Amino acid sequence: MDLFEEIKALKKKQNAIILAHYYQEPDIQDVADFIGDSLALSKKAANVDADVILFAGVHFMAETAKILDPTKKVIVPDLDAGCSLADSCPADRFGEFVRSHPDHIVVSYINCTAEVKALSNIICTSSNAEKIIASIPDDEKIIFAPDKNLGAYLVKQTGRDMVLWDGTCVVHELFSEKKMLQLKVEHPNAKVIAHPECEDRVLQHADFIGSTSALLKFVEDDFSSTFIVATEVGIIHQMEKQTLNKKYIPAPPDNDCACNECPHMKKNTLEKVRDALRTLKPEVDVPCELRERALAPIQKMLEL
Ligand code: 13P
Ligand code: SF4
Repeated sequence: MDLFEEIKALKKKQNAIILAHYYQEPDIQDVADFIGDSLALSKKAANVDADVILFAGVHFMAETAKILDPTKKVIVPDLDAGCSLADSCPADRFGEFVRSHPDHIVVSYINCTAEVKALSNIICTSSNAEKIIASIPDDEKIIFAPDKNLGAYLVKQTGRDMVLWDGTCVVHELFSEKKMLQLKVEHPNAKVIAHPECEDRVLQHADFIGSTSALLKFVEDDFSSTFIVATEVGIIHQMEKQTLNKKYIPAPPDNDCACNECPHMKKNTLEKVRDALRTLKPEVDVPCELRERALAPIQKMLEL
């Protein structure tokens, strides 16, 4: 049996559903039951009609799914698929930071651990961050964590002066402004689209800035035929699938490595998806007491 057929049969046998982020390798996206950005995946995870969720993404995403529905068994292809943003914000240090700003509302980007979520008042994703910030009364002070680039972008967009945690994404901080400008000269009609996790020096050249799903919608609706894409390259697979005769050029990183691929997301492979479905391992679990504290700020986001 080929891998695709084997995975299909295992999904049926285990009554499992595969949720995948747009940054997963194309084969995993093609075998998934649902593909989305962080917000869409959280909403989906809260309403899954299956016994098992195989989360093809990174650890904080699977953890969020478990927090939202602890009755489901949540498994991942590779337990080591983490996230540099989540790693940049250890809960003990963040707890001290929060305590040193006692009169602040804590808004955390969903790319953080359950412990950090539990220290937060409300969670946001790149799809809804502006809306979440706008929901906080003007006279309240705000801490935003862990992504300082997204935080700086939100300060600009909302005019709110927030205290930012000093975290970055390894993929989005490495795009080269110089190489991007060269590409713009070579492709004068191309539009630059960028994820708000990118640095400001890259964002200032973008024709459109948005979450992965917003970028996907933009290329579907826009009449341009060429796009320079400043986010993880996995999204280009969906862009190519959902549009005809459009060209996508990955924005180049600062050096010659494949740094526009997320090393964490790319730990997952189709073989590991198959193995996880066979053994129902590795499993992601969240202790009950932590789960309850982390759930409240996620629920607040979903209600908004
Ligand atoms: P979105 O899925 O919200 O666009 O975020 C991208 C990302 O970096 C996920 O890790
Ligand atoms: Fe984390 Fe960046 Fe990878 Fe997203 S792309 S999972 S923010 S390291």
